[in-house]
Amino acid sequence: MSGKEGAAPDAELPDAELIAAAVAARANAYVPYSGYHVGAALRGRNGKIYTGVNVENAAYPEGTCAEAGAIAAMVLDGEREIVEAAVAGPEGAIITPCGGCRQKLREFSRPAVAVHSCDPNGHKQTVTIGDLLPHAFSPEHLS
Ligand code: THU
Repeated sequence: MSGKEGAAPDAELPDAELIAAAVAARANAYVPYSGYHVGAALRGRNGKIYTGVNVENAAYPEGTCAEAGAIAAMVLDGEREIVEAAVAGPEGAIITPCGGCRQKLREFSRPAVAVHSCDPNGHKQTVTIGDLLPHAFSPEHLS
């Protein structure tokens, strides 16, 4: 593993295709309770894009975040490494992954991996997973 917390992101210039995928995914979010549509798109080391949406539930804690759905799709496809990530929320918001999703993303991402925050108009901000989750407990601790 390389990349340090606080280091420049791998991808300073966001991948337009990845951003578009995260924004497009939002349309299919299942959000009858919050009305807060989120789309996530992950670029695997294999070059493919994996998308996910938030899926809420009448039993509120059973809802799942967009990032979790995208990670599940990636793992199902046999990919294990994220090289770039995008999360899209409502217009005007600078959405960042929730705490649990930061940990989920870190499982498959080096700290320097870029996480782009987007809204329906496109890219808003880029930080790294190391910025979002410094001093993370990570797979390296168990290797
Ligand atoms: N949400 C995500 O899908 N990803 C995040 O990183 C932040 C929050 C969802 C969960 C819930 O369905 C809605 O946004 C409001 O919290």
